[in-house]
Amino acid sequence: MIVINTPNNPTGKVFPREELRHISDICVRHNLLLLSDEVYDRLSYVPFTRVAILGPDVQQRTISIGSEAAAAAYEQSLYNGFWSQTRTLLREKMIRLCQVFQKLDLPYTIPEGGYFILVNLAKVQIPRVYRIPPHIRDRRRDFLLARFLIMELGVAAIPANEFYSPEHPCLGENYLRFAVCQDDEILDLAKARLRRLQLYLTA
Ligand SMILES: Cc1ncc(COP(=O)(O)O)c(C=O)c1O
Repeated sequence: MIVINTPNNPTGKVFPREELRHISDICVRHNLLLLSDEVYDRLSYVPFTRVAILGPDVQQRTISIGSEAAAAAYEQSLYNGFWSQTRTLLREKMIRLCQVFQKLDLPYTIPEGGYFILVNLAKVQIPRVYRIPPHIRDRRRDFLLARFLIMELGVAAIPANEFYSPEHPCLGENYLRFAVCQDDEILDLAKARLRRLQLYLTA
């Protein structure tokens, strides 16, 4: 079985049709199932392709996953423009939050779908004096960064390694995932707090 997630959490990638075509070709050639997690399908800012529609041979072997939470909104949303309004709102919120990462000169992703921003915090130096309890001393840098942000700034983000398999921990260690699905007042408060990261940036 091959498992994909599009739009992707946490990267925000939306798999283009050609890539889905390649992946599904592999599944057909090797007689594999394709599990496609599409819970953010309505929150795509670029053309979204449902892999199962690429042909009968793909459809037969594809399991498409939707979200129960999203399903509850579908009936209403058909009539009142809920999803297009939500997409517009979320994009505004992304721009709003990312202003602070721009100011801090921290690289960040602009997602093609979903409402998560991945930020590269390689330049943030966690102060040496910062006490790390023994039970988390072995955790990777992204976990310690997340803890540092919660304790020092009062901002919660998710360590990227939660999304990587244990064999590839170094890939996520400088990244945190921020969710923008918050009230604007909360985002503004988070931005004000995140500005204090300036004190901990290396050149
Ligand atoms: C990629 C992905 N798949 C599935 C889920 C589960 O969605 P739900 O709990 O709305 O069914 C989530 C929730 O965060 C998700 O990010």
